[in-house]
Amino acid sequence: MAEQKPSVSTFRKMKREQKPVVMLTAYDAPTAALAVKCGVDLLLVGDSVGNAILGYTTTIPVTMEESLHHCRAVVRGTRSNAFVIGDMPFMSYHASEEQALLNAAKYLQDAGCDAVKLEGGMEVVPLVKRMTTAGVPVCAHIGLCPQQVKVQGGYRIAGRSGDAAERLMQEALALEEAGAFMIVLECVTAPVAEKITQALSIPTIGIGSGAGCNGQVQVVTDILGLSGYLPKHAKRYADLASIMENAFTSYVEDVRSGKFPTSENAHQ
Ligand code: KIV
Repeated sequence: MAEQKPSVSTFRKMKREQKPVVMLTAYDAPTAALAVKCGVDLLLVGDSVGNAILGYTTTIPVTMEESLHHCRAVVRGTRSNAFVIGDMPFMSYHASEEQALLNAAKYLQDAGCDAVKLEGGMEVVPLVKRMTTAGVPVCAHIGLCPQQVKVQGGYRIAGRSGDAAERLMQEALALEEAGAFMIVLECVTAPVAEKITQALSIPTIGIGSGAGCNGQVQVVTDILGLSGYLPKHAKRYADLASIMENAFTSYVEDVRSGKFPTSENAHQ
């Protein structure tokens, strides 16, 4: 019998049963299909597509159209059988609540995603409530928020001071109260992330926030060795860059030396 597609209640149940939730980013159909085949619980089409795939240096330039394009590919790749979160890009949910709701709807109606993710603390609480009430499941994201990089002047670890830790806790509680079904904690110090995890009934998904979260998310190009560098919060599970380099070099050599194509590769 085919496995049932996960829903927001699947992840709440996993938290209750203390089963770790495994999230991975995906940006294209074949990678998404493989990740789900290997047991990844849910996919995030992160705005990290900007740095990971599109050649931008930050996530700021990513547009709604670019994000939706990759969401559609991931949803098609998993034949709509995986839980897919679309990550709302910079300025797609800030101009007005109306704009935010209409943009969120595009992830569900046009791209076929199951939920959206948006960055921010207290300032997005009313929006999370509006979206959830309207029927859009929201994954919140606090701690290091890459869309704030220009205001913050860089990427900062979150929760180091007592005040910062308390603020994160209050944000997490308010986002849960507003209806978020899950919350990403990015680069939050491990003790603070663990405390937040214990205080919430929705699952926390950590990245660089320690093992005390209910689940983990990684950027797929980091774990596959395609990012060019390895952030502290990531682990490299494969060195695809070397494998691709070898393959491309062999292909170039074969064409230049006449080894490829052979008669087997030609239509007669
Ligand atoms: O865009 C992204 O990939 C993310 C994860 C790092 C959580 O937001």
